[in-house]
Amino acid sequence: MKLHVLSKIGQRTTEPPISWLMHAALSRPKLISLAAGFTDSASLPVAEARAALNQVLRSPKTGRPALQYGITAGDTTLRQLTAAHLRKLDLGGTPCRRPQNQGRRHAVPPERYSPKRLLITGGSQQLLYLTAEALCNEGDIVLVEDPTYFVFLGILQSRGLRARAVRLGRDGLDLAHLERVLQSLKRSGELHRVKLFYLVSYFQNPTGVTTSFQKKCGLLKLLKKFERAAGHPIYLLEDAAYRELRFDPVAGVCDRRTSDEMANSRRSQTAATSYGERSALAVPGAAERVIYAGTFSKPFATGVRVGYGILPEPLFTAVKHIKGNHDFGTSNLLQHLVARTLASGIYGRHVAQLQKRYAHKARVMKLAIKKHFPPAVGWWEPEGGLYFWARLPRNVSTGLKSKVFSTALKNDVLYVPGEICYAADPSRRKPNHEMRISFGSASEADIREGIKRLGKVLRKLI
Ligand SMILES: Cc1ncc(COP(=O)(O)O)c(C=O)c1O
Repeated sequence: MKLHVLSKIGQRTTEPPISWLMHAALSRPKLISLAAGFTDSASLPVAEARAALNQVLRSPKTGRPALQYGITAGDTTLRQLTAAHLRKLDLGGTPCRRPQNQGRRHAVPPERYSPKRLLITGGSQQLLYLTAEALCNEGDIVLVEDPTYFVFLGILQSRGLRARAVRLGRDGLDLAHLERVLQSLKRSGELHRVKLFYLVSYFQNPTGVTTSFQKKCGLLKLLKKFERAAGHPIYLLEDAAYRELRFDPVAGVCDRRTSDEMANSRRSQTAATSYGERSALAVPGAAERVIYAGTFSKPFATGVRVGYGILPEPLFTAVKHIKGNHDFGTSNLLQHLVARTLASGIYGRHVAQLQKRYAHKARVMKLAIKKHFPPAVGWWEPEGGLYFWARLPRNVSTGLKSKVFSTALKNDVLYVPGEICYAADPSRRKPNHEMRISFGSASEADIREGIKRLGKVLRKLI
């Protein structure tokens, strides 16, 4: 097929790095992949999913509907359960005492978490794509963290959108830099092209960094400040894909239980949810500007690919209509499966186990890094999620064409080169001396061996 028969999007869209990384991980049996964001295979809830599916299919109330088409916005029960789950993640039970770093207590209106504003999607990935499609025209600008989730950058590139990168530190988004970026866009007359800020707020992919609730308040305030000059709303798309994979489920808990009750619940492994930092939905006055993207992939099963979004109008309706053209509804059977696991407590118990499992694997990786990486390599230890972020000296490239990458591949170990997580932003050069290393899918033995191999490569080439 000649290139010119393709649409602009068809021509622009190249193979996403994620496809290549996943293929490499699956097709070379000796390769230890510390790259792709697969989850821990050994912990996938096979028996639990089988039990839940049996319950769904056995019940006359759900058996046939689960095998039938559903409605575009998603199964009503799942939407209700998900909205309640999200509200609990943010507020626990109200009124409640918040940890000091989470801003002053205020009442969050219940309609923020209304199932009427909640859309079930094919993974949260679909929500990210549809939101960009519903909101942005070719040439529009999306603000992103620097670095950010590289698959989202693929969406921007494919849809002809421009990215402007805002610095990210160990303590989250750099708000002072965001203000400078917005000022410079105002000066260059491009502010009216800015539609969206995309923020991966919890245990970020790729750096593991969390942006605090306080910073989310500051971020929304800044976006609002520039809206008049932009001439339209500037939305915050909060991607909370890793939110529930918090290692310490009681850190920052908004909960009215006594410490004894909490200790008991930890002992019995039935802690249904971890709370931690609130989402931007809880920011005062934020309802009309926040799009929240959540998923059941990472905390339950990646193969299920059920995600969700809470969106303000007019976006909710626009995204739902576009989804209607895409698939007119996410797989009904899978939605029923997720609803059953949420309602029965299977989900909560599974998340509690996963949190421990990943905390342990992160410890294994940390010890291996300490043992095998040369001192010139710095790294950020996460408090949740799936990733470590390592920094080599600036003059040592880790990119796809680098000696480090090819030597690592020759030694059968794969990582994600940092450079693919940086947007093409004309105001700075892309750093290319970093790497994302995941402990998600590799076994403990493979984490130790993979880091050992990588350490050997780094010691040789630095
Ligand atoms: C930051 C982030 N957002 C969204 C997704 C998409 O996940 P899913 O579509 O499975 O919900 C991923 C997957 O790796 C991710 O890392």
